[in-house]
Amino acid sequence: MAEKNEFLFDLKTPETSWKGGIAHSYFPDGSVSSDVGTVTDAEGPHGLYWFLDSLMYKTPEGTDATRPPNPHFHWRGYETFFVDSGSLWLYIDGKKALAKKGDIVHLQAAQSQAMLFLEDVKWRGTYHDFETYPEFGEVSRVKAAFPELAEDPELNALATRGFMDTNRMEPFVCKEVPTEDCHAIKNLSRPHAVYDFPGVKMNVVVERWENGGVKELECAVMEPGFTAQWVKYPPIKELFYLRSGKVKFSILGQEFVADDECVVVAPRYAPRSIEVLEKAELYELGGQPYWSLFLQSYDSVKTYAPERLTPETVKALKERFHIQIESIGMK
Ligand SMILES: [Fe+2]
Repeated sequence: MAEKNEFLFDLKTPETSWKGGIAHSYFPDGSVSSDVGTVTDAEGPHGLYWFLDSLMYKTPEGTDATRPPNPHFHWRGYETFFVDSGSLWLYIDGKKALAKKGDIVHLQAAQSQAMLFLEDVKWRGTYHDFETYPEFGEVSRVKAAFPELAEDPELNALATRGFMDTNRMEPFVCKEVPTEDCHAIKNLSRPHAVYDFPGVKMNVVVERWENGGVKELECAVMEPGFTAQWVKYPPIKELFYLRSGKVKFSILGQEFVADDECVVVAPRYAPRSIEVLEKAELYELGGQPYWSLFLQSYDSVKTYAPERLTPETVKALKERFHIQIESIGMK
């Protein structure tokens, strides 16, 4: 277990990483279908940096797996889920495919979607552009106090949408496909692109166009001894998810070690650096730097005009694409 500080949230110990109360959702039979804890809040016009840690309970035996249970869509919201245990059927836009531990499920606005959890699943999600409807929680509170009002039309009319822009729909028709044929299920073994540097491979996992142009998702797979130093006062806040490995962070003068299933917040302007202690998979969930374009540009210059690959060129590319890394190396 990593030792808690203001920048570190260890999901292995929800009692230290979840703030506020635990929210639940329910199966049709009334039993609890999920525990949901808030790790970080949404901010800004696109509601970036929002991270919820959920435990999704196994869907009850006897549920018909040929039809999507709980089919829904979101008008505007995007969701990216790390599947950190177990497995599930994902139903999306007419496809049904198996997702399992290690996969990443990326759901875009207005995609039909549903999940059937084959086991209990650690389901870590980051979201953006969600409209939330707090009246849903307020109506749920009334229902919890007066269970006989669960189907009261007058009460239900006060909260026609779910908390998170969740809109019910018909159980849509689905065809089962292999996981790799389901675009919404990502995996580090199938990145959009991968770029090799000494001690680190940069994997483009979710492109910006899959997020309505708002953000992107990369994973740095880093070897022990790899180090990175950020610019002096990084202008962009970052939200890291260390899915596996061990990394020493220095943020705002505080040094600490994060390990698997840790969320790390690096506030705007806070000086930061890392040193990798054990091979690590590090995602950045804020997704504001244009890494995909930077890496493509870097690779293009290196391939087509290596004589132009000078420190000045690299500096200009970093500035253009909002890359905050000053230098990388091996200890
Ligand atoms: Fe959803």
